[in-house]
Order: sequence, then structure tokens, then C-alpha cells
Amino acid sequence: MSASASTSPESALIAVRLMAIRYAAQDTHVFEFAPVAGGVLPAAAPGAHIDLHLPGGAAGSRVRSYSLLLSADLAVDVPRPYYRVGVKRDAHSSGGSRYLHEQLRVGMTLEISPPRNHFPLHEGDAPSVFIAGGIGITPIWSMLQRQAARGFAWALHYASRTREEAAFAAELQALPAVHLHIDAEQQGRVLDIAAIVAAAPAGAHFYCCGPKPMLAAFEDATSDVPAQRVHLEYFSAKQEAASAGGYTVVLARSGRELAVPEGRSILDVLREAGVEVGYSCEQGVCGACETKVLAGTPDHRDSILTTSEREASRSMMICCSGSHSARLELDL
Ligand code: FES
Repeated sequence: MSASASTSPESALIAVRLMAIRYAAQDTHVFEFAPVAGGVLPAAAPGAHIDLHLPGGAAGSRVRSYSLLLSADLAVDVPRPYYRVGVKRDAHSSGGSRYLHEQLRVGMTLEISPPRNHFPLHEGDAPSVFIAGGIGITPIWSMLQRQAARGFAWALHYASRTREEAAFAAELQALPAVHLHIDAEQQGRVLDIAAIVAAAPAGAHFYCCGPKPMLAAFEDATSDVPAQRVHLEYFSAKQEAASAGGYTVVLARSGRELAVPEGRSILDVLREAGVEVGYSCEQGVCGACETKVLAGTPDHRDSILTTSEREASRSMMICCSGSHSARLELDL
């Protein structure tokens, strides 16, 4: 996952040094970071991502989220000596991937967040069907390493525009059950996700990370599959952010009440009022701003919460979601 953002007051940022850059495919490099202070980095499980706090942006810093590439040589609860992320240089980049590819050099330092995981691997014994598009392969790469190490059945369907752009293609193709779909060699035919889902073994869990049209096709194709077996990760906003405003946010810990006007997010209003809250992507895809809801009815617009989590409304992403009720009480 990669997403744009602004600064965050997260307390536990970690200073890391770029130790290596490795070519993974045309326009995609792998960046390896180790702690500046020595020692190890927090344990992380497949599907997790970290925020990189990069220089630049209007506020003097910008934050970008990237999925971790986790080999299966360490257990998921064992601290890691380094983190690796795969970053594709985006021609339409607002600065994150361009900075990483063009300016960040081995030896330079930056801060990162601890890992968060909204796209975890189901660790049962069911077979896994992984579907990845483009740089969406990065969280999936970690998942299939883990599934292979655990000895459970899995298959990967990986779509790339061209063979040259398919990251990790050589090592993936050395594994069984990897199906590479090169768009440029298919006369414009895209991956047939409905056929993949229909042909999957009974009880399979489905995972997808890729561009929006692929995720939409995946959601369509799995609409009849029980939700607990369907897992996906967006790396850009799935829906428009709520902007109607006209409601009041109540901060339960202080009793403060803040009006959210039309065109502003809850996060905007909290920042302007000097309330410290964590945030990163501001698009509802990273989970950094997840906040407990104590009363009221959120208007969920994120790409993280499941249908049942939305219905329960125990939490919300305050960067993009609004309120259906006149008052919304948050655990802040
Ligand atoms: S800041 Fe990323 S989900 Fe809200």
C-alpha cells in the first residue's frame, strides 16, 4: 500500500537509516531500513504497513504508507533487524515515490511509524487465493511467503501491465501456483477474477491488493463469499470523503464540543482546535486516525472497516468519515 499524507503527532516514531536499495523491476525498487540506534524493529505480520515521514510538503514533512516485505524466516512475533518496502515510481506522484527514487540515498535517515495491519493473513488451514495488481504485490508477497512456510495451499494470480514492470517476477515464478498475467500480452484482456473465484477450492480465503478497477472487480466476484473469507486492501480512497458537515463532535475526555462545518473533515476541525490526533494518509486507507465512537452514527467513508465493523460503529476514520447524527461523541 502507498498513500499520501501530512504530518502525524504519533508518539512512537522510530529513526531508521536507509541501508540498501535493490532493483525489483522497471520503476520499482526495494528500500531496506534498519534502526539508527541499533537493535531491532517491532515484530510485524504479513499485510502490515509502515508510514515513512519524508521531508517536504506544506507542513515541512509528508507521510507515505508502504506495505512491508516480510520474509518468512522469522516468526510474526519476533522483532525484525530491518524493514523492507517495495516502491514503484509513480509518474503522477505528489512527491513520495519520486523522493524515494530520486533523492533518498543509502546512509540517509528518516522516521517511520511502527507497523499497522488492516490486511492480516488468516492463519487457519484454509487454502489462500491471492490476487495482486502492479505494486499491490507487496503485501501479497509477504502473505504467500508465510503461507508457503506454514505448508498450506495457496495460489497467486498476479497482473502486471508489462513483464518488465512485474516486481519479484523471477523469484515468484520459481514457486509453484504462481500465475502471471501480463496485460500487454493479452490483447487488452484483464485478469478474469470472477473465473478465479469460481474455480477456487471450497473454503478458500481470497486476498486482493491492486488498482481500484481490480478491487472493484474483486468485490463483485466475491460478493457471495462469506465476508470473513474476503480480504482486500485499497491504497487510494475508495469513496469520496464526507463533506456535508453540520454536526457537532463531542470530545468525551475533555467535554469540548466542536462544530464541523460543510467542506471540513473531523480531522481538519480537531487540528485547527489544537487537538492532537494521529493521522497519516487522510484518505481512509491507512487506519492511523481510527478513533473510538462512544455515541452517534458515523457516516463511514473509509476503505478499511468491514461491513460488520461499520454496522457496529465502535470506531471510525476521522480523516474521511462524517456523521449522520447531529452529535458524535468520540473517545478523545
Ligand atoms: S489518516 Fe489514514 S485512515 Fe485516516
